[in-house]
Amino acid sequence: MDNILDIKGLSVGYARKGLALEDVSLSVPTGSIVALLGANGAGKTTLIRAVSGLLDLHHGHVTGGSIHYAGQSVLGMPAHKLVRMGMGQVPEGRLIFKQLSVLDNLMVGAAIVPRSKVSARLDAIYQLFPRLLERTNQAAAWLSGGEQQMLALGRALVGEPKLLLVDELSLGLAPLVVRAIYEQLRVVGDTLGTSMLIVEQNAHLALQFASHAYILNRGRIAFSGTAEEVSASDAMKESYLGVANEPSAAEAAT
Ligand SMILES: Nc1ncnc2c1ncn2[C@@H]1O[C@H](COP(=O)(O)OP(=O)(O)O)[C@@H](O)[C@H]1O
Ligand SMILES: [Mg+2]
Repeated sequence: MDNILDIKGLSVGYARKGLALEDVSLSVPTGSIVALLGANGAGKTTLIRAVSGLLDLHHGHVTGGSIHYAGQSVLGMPAHKLVRMGMGQVPEGRLIFKQLSVLDNLMVGAAIVPRSKVSARLDAIYQLFPRLLERTNQAAAWLSGGEQQMLALGRALVGEPKLLLVDELSLGLAPLVVRAIYEQLRVVGDTLGTSMLIVEQNAHLALQFASHAYILNRGRIAFSGTAEEVSASDAMKESYLGVANEPSAAEAAT
């Protein structure tokens, strides 16, 4: 199969509101990292919700188009079923369980893992993010923002998903932390062949790790192409992408 995810002509609306997505087509080639870029309100989260079966929860509905995941139409499928089909989800806001320990949060993700494989999978997550091992028995509430994002990713990755969806990977995090997380995701992609669709406001950084990118603007795809093409595009130069978090200055200082 060429594309793990294929979205064609997708339109989505919310109750008492116009369309949040209009005629959006996007695909994630199997084994690749794709970045979904765009300003606040562009429709990035709506697209992730549509793919991950979470639109109902937010009173959204698909008004047209199709979504195929692993060769199968998944429109209208509930999130829990999609997770069991290998779709790892890191939703907007991360939604980890703050009162639970790091380990218990990871065990939530491991609910879909065969019992005999759980401890090896946990080890793999702790190897990927050693900070989580150091804090395994602490309540998630005590983690830094970066560690909470590692935990949200770990919870999704412990099930060894075929496709990982991440909404706002870098929101609120220091550039160096974000870079470290991306580097670990690249390791996951290289070793397990995991495909990823990552929503990012920091376009500059995302384009260093993604092979392809899409720019959403007001519910429509404004531009798409390889990371190089998108980097060089006029659409990228538009101010709405907000490259205010450009990390190079901070990194140059360290
Ligand atoms: N639950 C909702 N109900 C009504 N409108 C919503 C809801 N969620 C998002 N929207 C609207 O849909 C549009 C796209 O929002 P969103 O997908 O959250 O964009 P982004 O993630 O790119 O910031 C915005 O106009 C937003 O106000
Ligand atoms: Mg969003």
